Amino acid sequence: MIAVVLESANSSLTRTTQGAHHVNSSASELRGASPRREASPRREASDLRTIGILGAGRVGTAVARQALKAGFEVRIATAKPVEEIAMIVEIVTAGAVAVDAPDAAAADLVVVAVPLHKYRTLDPELLAGRTVIDVMNYWSPIDGEIADFEDDPRTSSEVVQDFLRGAALVKTLNHIGYHDLEEDGRAPGTPDRRALALAGDHPEAKELVAEFIDQLGYDPVDAGPLAAGRAFQPGTEIFNGSHTAAQLRALLSTASQPSHA
Ligand SMILES: NC(=O)c1ccc[n+]([C@@H]2O[C@H](COP(=O)([O-])OP(=O)(O)OC[C@H]3O[C@@H](n4cnc5c(N)ncnc54)[C@H](OP(=O)(O)O)[C@@H]3O)[C@@H](O)[C@H]2O)c1
Repeated sequence: MIAVVLESANSSLTRTTQGAHHVNSSASELRGASPRREASPRREASDLRTIGILGAGRVGTAVARQALKAGFEVRIATAKPVEEIAMIVEIVTAGAVAVDAPDAAAADLVVVAVPLHKYRTLDPELLAGRTVIDVMNYWSPIDGEIADFEDDPRTSSEVVQDFLRGAALVKTLNHIGYHDLEEDGRAPGTPDRRALALAGDHPEAKELVAEFIDQLGYDPVDAGPLAAGRAFQPGTEIFNGSHTAAQLRALLSTASQPSHA
C-alpha cells in the first residue's frame, strides 16, 4: 500500500496578516455540522469551524490552544459539569468555551482526548454521525492491562470504533507529544514541515481531519484504513520520532510490507 498526502483536503491555504491560516475549501461537505456562522475576522468561509474536545487534560488543552491559534471556535467538555470546569478552561485555554459533552459532540469535528481506559465512559449516541479524532493510545504501563486491548488483535482505534459504532473515527495526533504540538507547527509549504499520519475507514472524515491537521500546522499523511494505524501506535518508529511527509510516507510504506521474519 502506498501512503498518500492528502493535498490539504482540496483546500488552498494562504497566510493572513495575523498569521492564521485561511481556508478556501471545496471539500468537506459536512453532514450534521453545526449551522453556518459569519466567518470570524481570522478565518474565511469554511465548513470546518467548530472543534469539540472531549477531555481537558494535557492533550485536550494543547489541541485546544493550537486550534484557537488557527482561528477555530473551540468547545471543551469533560465528564464534569460545565460549572466545575469553566474557570480552568478559561485560564488554561483562553478563548475556548467550556460546554457539556453534547455541545462538544455537536461541533464540526470532535477530538476525543480522554485516557483510553475511560473510553467506555464516552456516549456512542452522542458521537453517532460525527467525525471523531481518536488521539488515544494504549500503553499498559500507564493505562494498566486492559482486556479489551490485550485480548483483541486489532488496534486500539478499531476497538474504539467498534464501541463508537456510528462515528467516523480517524486516528491521528496520537503520535505527537502534547508539548510538541504547540511547538512544531509550521505554515504550509515550510521546508521540512513536520507531518502527522492519519488512519480511518471513512474517506470524507479523513479529508476533514486532514484539513484540520494542516490548519494546526502539520502535513497530513494518509496511512490508509483504521487498521493501518498500527504503524504509528506506541513503540513504533513513527510514534517515537518526528518526520516530514516524505519520511512518514516511506515509513508507512515499509510498515505495510508483509513481514518475512
Ligand atoms: N500525553 C501526551 O503527550 C499524549 C500525546 C498524544 C496522545 N496521548 C493520549 O491522549 C489520551 C489523553 O491523554 P492526556 O495526557 O491528555 O490525559 P489526561 O491529562 O489524564 O486528561 C484526560 C482528560 O479526560 C477527561 N475525561 C475523562 N473521561 C471523560 C469523558 N467521558 N468525557 C470527557 N472527558 C473525560 C478528564 O477529565 P475528568 O476526569 O475531570 O472528567 C481529563 O480532563 C491518552 O490516551 C494518551 O495516551 C497523549
